[in-house]
Amino acid sequence: MDKISLPKASTLTSPNPVALVCTTKKDNHTNLATVSWWTYLSFNPEMIAFAMMKSSYSGEMVREHRKVILSIPGTDLSQTVIKCGSHSGRNIDKVKEFNIQMQSIPNADIQIPLHSKLAICCSLKDYVEVGDHYLYICNVESVYANDTETAVYAWNGYAEIRPANKG
Ligand SMILES: Cc1cc2nc3c(=O)[nH]c(=O)nc-3n(C[C@H](O)[C@H](O)[C@H](O)COP(=O)(O)O)c2cc1C
Repeated sequence: MDKISLPKASTLTSPNPVALVCTTKKDNHTNLATVSWWTYLSFNPEMIAFAMMKSSYSGEMVREHRKVILSIPGTDLSQTVIKCGSHSGRNIDKVKEFNIQMQSIPNADIQIPLHSKLAICCSLKDYVEVGDHYLYICNVESVYANDTETAVYAWNGYAEIRPANKG
Protein backbone atom coordinates (compact mmCIF):
# COMPACT_ATOMS: atom_id res chain seq x y z
CA MET A 1 0.00 0.00 0.00
CA ASP A 2 1.11 3.63 -0.58
CA LYS A 3 1.38 6.13 2.30
CA ILE A 4 -0.97 9.08 1.57
CA SER A 5 -2.45 12.15 3.32
CA LEU A 6 -5.92 12.27 4.90
CA PRO A 7 -7.19 14.81 2.27
CA LYS A 8 -6.08 12.36 -0.43
CA ALA A 9 -7.85 9.56 1.46
CA SER A 10 -11.09 11.57 1.38
CA THR A 11 -10.95 11.60 -2.43
CA LEU A 12 -10.54 7.81 -2.46
CA THR A 13 -13.71 7.31 -0.41
CA SER A 14 -15.83 8.98 -3.14
CA PRO A 15 -18.74 9.12 -3.28
CA ASN A 16 -18.91 10.94 0.05
CA PRO A 17 -22.26 11.92 1.63
CA VAL A 18 -23.63 15.43 1.24
CA ALA A 19 -26.06 17.44 3.36
CA LEU A 20 -27.19 21.05 3.53
CA VAL A 21 -26.92 22.59 6.99
CA CYS A 22 -29.99 24.84 7.33
CA THR A 23 -29.82 27.49 10.06
CA THR A 24 -31.48 30.76 11.00
CA LYS A 25 -29.43 33.87 10.25
CA LYS A 26 -29.39 36.97 12.45
CA ASP A 27 -32.03 38.55 10.12
CA ASN A 28 -34.26 35.45 10.58
CA HIS A 29 -33.70 34.30 6.98
CA THR A 30 -32.46 30.75 6.41
CA ASN A 31 -28.80 30.08 5.63
CA LEU A 32 -27.70 26.96 3.73
CA ALA A 33 -24.19 25.46 3.72
CA THR A 34 -22.91 22.19 2.31
CA VAL A 35 -21.34 19.56 4.57
CA SER A 36 -19.92 16.23 3.63
CA TRP A 37 -18.65 15.46 7.09
CA TRP A 38 -21.85 14.34 8.79
CA THR A 39 -22.71 11.03 10.40
CA TYR A 40 -25.33 9.11 12.34
CA LEU A 41 -24.17 8.73 15.96
CA SER A 42 -26.91 6.94 17.91
CA PHE A 43 -30.39 5.49 17.29
CA ASN A 44 -31.39 5.43 20.98
CA PRO A 45 -31.49 8.31 21.66
CA GLU A 46 -31.48 9.51 18.05
CA MET A 47 -28.33 11.57 17.44
CA ILE A 48 -26.23 12.82 14.54
CA ALA A 49 -23.08 14.96 14.22
CA PHE A 50 -21.39 17.12 11.61
CA ALA A 51 -18.06 18.97 11.43
CA MET A 52 -17.75 22.55 10.17
CA MET A 53 -14.75 24.85 9.77
CA LYS A 54 -14.38 27.13 12.79
CA SER A 55 -14.89 30.16 10.52
CA SER A 56 -18.21 28.92 9.09
CA TYR A 57 -21.18 31.24 9.56
CA SER A 58 -23.50 28.23 9.86
CA GLY A 59 -21.49 26.96 12.80
CA GLU A 60 -21.77 30.35 14.47
CA MET A 61 -25.57 30.28 13.98
CA VAL A 62 -25.85 26.73 15.36
CA ARG A 63 -23.88 27.76 18.45
CA GLU A 64 -26.10 30.84 18.88
CA HIS A 65 -29.58 29.40 18.19
CA ARG A 66 -28.87 25.71 19.04
CA LYS A 67 -31.30 24.60 16.30
CA VAL A 68 -30.36 23.14 12.93
CA ILE A 69 -31.91 21.06 10.15
CA LEU A 70 -29.76 18.81 7.98
CA SER A 71 -31.40 18.32 4.60
CA ILE A 72 -30.28 15.63 2.19
CA PRO A 73 -30.45 17.14 -1.30
CA GLY A 74 -32.09 15.48 -4.29
CA THR A 75 -30.72 15.68 -7.85
CA ASP A 76 -32.41 19.03 -8.64
CA LEU A 77 -30.25 20.58 -5.90
CA SER A 78 -26.86 19.54 -7.33
CA GLN A 79 -25.90 23.09 -8.35
CA THR A 80 -27.29 24.47 -5.09
CA VAL A 81 -24.95 22.12 -3.21
CA ILE A 82 -21.93 23.54 -5.07
CA LYS A 83 -23.01 27.17 -4.71
CA CYS A 84 -23.92 26.90 -1.01
CA GLY A 85 -20.59 25.15 -0.43
CA SER A 86 -18.52 27.93 -1.98
CA HIS A 87 -20.06 31.13 -0.54
CA SER A 88 -20.51 32.17 3.08
CA GLY A 89 -23.87 33.33 4.40
CA ARG A 90 -21.93 35.88 6.42
CA ASN A 91 -21.72 38.05 3.27
CA ILE A 92 -24.77 37.13 1.17
CA ASP A 93 -28.31 35.77 1.38
CA LYS A 94 -27.73 32.50 -0.49
CA VAL A 95 -31.44 31.62 -0.76
CA LYS A 96 -32.18 34.93 -2.49
CA GLU A 97 -28.92 35.18 -4.45
CA PHE A 98 -29.13 31.65 -5.87
CA ASN A 99 -32.92 31.72 -6.25
CA ILE A 100 -33.43 28.60 -4.13
CA GLN A 101 -37.04 27.50 -3.70
CA MET A 102 -37.75 26.68 -0.06
CA GLN A 103 -40.35 24.70 1.89
CA SER A 104 -41.50 24.64 5.50
CA ILE A 105 -41.23 21.68 7.85
CA PRO A 106 -43.82 21.10 10.63
CA ASN A 107 -42.90 22.73 13.97
CA ALA A 108 -39.71 24.34 12.62
CA ASP A 109 -38.81 28.00 12.06
CA ILE A 110 -35.96 27.00 9.75
CA GLN A 111 -36.91 26.30 6.13
CA ILE A 112 -35.29 23.72 3.86
CA PRO A 113 -34.90 23.61 0.06
CA LEU A 114 -37.56 22.05 -2.14
CA HIS A 115 -36.34 18.72 -3.60
CA SER A 116 -34.81 17.57 -0.30
CA LYS A 117 -34.99 13.82 0.27
CA LEU A 118 -34.65 14.04 4.06
CA ALA A 119 -34.94 16.71 6.72
CA ILE A 120 -33.26 15.82 10.02
CA CYS A 121 -34.43 18.38 12.58
CA CYS A 122 -32.01 18.76 15.47
CA SER A 123 -31.12 20.67 18.58
CA LEU A 124 -27.48 21.18 19.51
CA LYS A 125 -26.35 19.02 22.46
CA ASP A 126 -22.70 19.95 22.50
CA TYR A 127 -19.82 20.98 20.30
CA VAL A 128 -16.21 19.94 20.50
CA GLU A 129 -13.07 21.50 19.04
CA VAL A 130 -11.49 19.09 16.56
CA GLY A 131 -8.43 20.69 14.95
CA ASP A 132 -9.55 23.28 12.39
CA HIS A 133 -13.25 22.28 12.75
CA TYR A 134 -15.91 22.13 15.44
CA LEU A 135 -17.83 18.87 15.73
CA TYR A 136 -21.53 19.61 16.37
CA ILE A 137 -23.22 16.80 18.31
CA CYS A 138 -26.99 17.00 17.91
CA ASN A 139 -30.15 15.44 19.34
CA VAL A 140 -32.57 14.51 16.56
CA GLU A 141 -36.06 15.87 17.28
CA SER A 142 -37.83 14.66 14.13
CA VAL A 143 -37.09 13.36 10.65
CA TYR A 144 -39.13 13.94 7.46
CA ALA A 145 -38.64 12.15 4.16
CA ASN A 146 -39.63 12.48 0.51
CA ASP A 147 -38.94 9.08 -0.98
CA THR A 148 -39.47 10.28 -4.55
CA GLU A 149 -36.19 12.26 -4.47
CA THR A 150 -32.82 10.67 -5.36
CA ALA A 151 -30.03 11.65 -2.96
CA VAL A 152 -26.81 13.13 -4.35
CA TYR A 153 -23.23 12.51 -3.22
CA ALA A 154 -19.86 14.25 -3.68
CA TRP A 155 -17.60 12.59 -6.26
CA ASN A 156 -13.92 13.19 -7.15
CA GLY A 157 -13.34 14.59 -3.68
CA TYR A 158 -15.96 17.32 -3.47
CA ALA A 159 -15.87 18.55 -7.07
CA GLU A 160 -18.82 16.77 -8.62
CA ILE A 161 -22.33 16.32 -7.19
CA ARG A 162 -24.45 13.46 -8.52
CA PRO A 163 -26.30 10.31 -7.38
CA ALA A 164 -24.46 7.15 -6.36
CA ASN A 165 -24.50 4.48 -9.04
CA LYS A 166 -25.96 1.18 -7.95
CA GLY A 167 -24.29 -2.11 -8.74
C1 LIG B 1 -19.31 19.12 -1.63
C2 LIG B 1 -18.89 20.02 -0.49
C3 LIG B 1 -18.74 19.50 0.79
C4 LIG B 1 -18.37 20.33 1.87
N1 LIG B 1 -18.24 19.79 3.12
C5 LIG B 1 -17.91 20.58 4.17
C6 LIG B 1 -17.82 20.03 5.49
O1 LIG B 1 -18.08 18.85 5.73
N2 LIG B 1 -17.46 20.89 6.50
C7 LIG B 1 -17.19 22.22 6.27
O2 LIG B 1 -16.85 22.94 7.21
N3 LIG B 1 -17.28 22.75 5.03
C8 LIG B 1 -17.65 21.97 3.98
N4 LIG B 1 -17.77 22.52 2.74
C9 LIG B 1 -17.51 23.97 2.57
C10 LIG B 1 -18.62 24.86 3.17
O3 LIG B 1 -19.89 24.50 2.67
C11 LIG B 1 -18.29 26.33 2.82
O4 LIG B 1 -17.17 26.72 3.58
C12 LIG B 1 -19.45 27.31 3.00
O5 LIG B 1 -19.09 28.51 2.37
C13 LIG B 1 -19.80 27.60 4.45
O6 LIG B 1 -20.86 28.51 4.42
P1 LIG B 1 -21.30 29.36 5.69
O7 LIG B 1 -20.15 30.31 6.05
O8 LIG B 1 -22.54 30.10 5.24
O9 LIG B 1 -21.57 28.39 6.81
C14 LIG B 1 -18.14 21.72 1.65
C15 LIG B 1 -18.31 22.24 0.36
C16 LIG B 1 -18.69 21.41 -0.69
C17 LIG B 1 -18.87 22.00 -2.07
